[in-house]
Amino acid sequence: MEEIVYLNGDFVPYSRALIPVEDRGFLFADGVYEVVKFYGGRPFRLRAHLQRLEQSAAAIRLPLPAALDELERAALELVARNGLAGRDAVLYIQITRGPARRSHPFPPAPRPTTFMFARPEQGPDPALRERGVRAITVEDRRWALCHVKTVGLLLNVLAKQQAVEAGCYEGIFVRGGVVTEGTASNAFAVFAGTVHTHPAGPYILSGVTRQAVLEAAVRLGIPVVEEPVSLERLYAADEVFVTGTLTEVMPVVEVDGRVIGTGRPGPVTRALQQGFAQLTAAETGRA
Ligand code: PDD
Repeated sequence: MEEIVYLNGDFVPYSRALIPVEDRGFLFADGVYEVVKFYGGRPFRLRAHLQRLEQSAAAIRLPLPAALDELERAALELVARNGLAGRDAVLYIQITRGPARRSHPFPPAPRPTTFMFARPEQGPDPALRERGVRAITVEDRRWALCHVKTVGLLLNVLAKQQAVEAGCYEGIFVRGGVVTEGTASNAFAVFAGTVHTHPAGPYILSGVTRQAVLEAAVRLGIPVVEEPVSLERLYAADEVFVTGTLTEVMPVVEVDGRVIGTGRPGPVTRALQQGFAQLTAAETGRA
């Protein structure tokens, strides 16, 4: 059966889902998006993702073409229509300012494009989750609106590609000597049992997973400080990990070729991996 996608209110076969060549998402990266994980066919914090989508859209002055309830209904229907009930899956939602003859100012009567796909998604390789991964750091030259989840991801793409070419799982951005976040994840460092992560604000995309992990930390009695960590201190951390919808809680055991801690996932990261798994299980009913 051909994959079904959602496009502007309709559920259509993938091969028939077409958008005009002058869509502003294509021409100007004039759009916002979200990525949501489904565990056993049930979404993890879909509302939080949709609320962030609404905030991102507001930040680029893009009125949402549908209410959040309607987007939520469409998302759930799309997952069902693709035979993903009961399965682990990923939902992608993108809204752009739509097609218009190329000109920088907003079109007088925008017709936003809303696109969603839903696909099976196993989650991160369990072997990586057990062993941990390597990362490099990359100078963070992105704009100062990183809290807006726009499709303008070129610097994230370039940094991720640099990481992949270096044989690494993730690139960790460093701005002014301070760790901000990963190319598609949030970054954390552990010092003497306390978790440190960059505060929310314009220099990071404050992740739904980040929030869940902070909640898990509170529940487990693990202290957290939302303060920036310098690159020098990152190298000297006991543990490092990154979090994201598709990354979950991933231990980082080497940064820029330097071994972190013992070179193996540490006890705080392990506890938070379990705490996060418990949260997703409790909230989605996954066994
Ligand atoms: N990215 N920071 C950046 C720059 C991201 O792109 C992401 C997620 C995160 C983590 O956010 P969350 O926990 O809400 O997924 C942080 C998604 C998964 C992506 O672009 O594919």
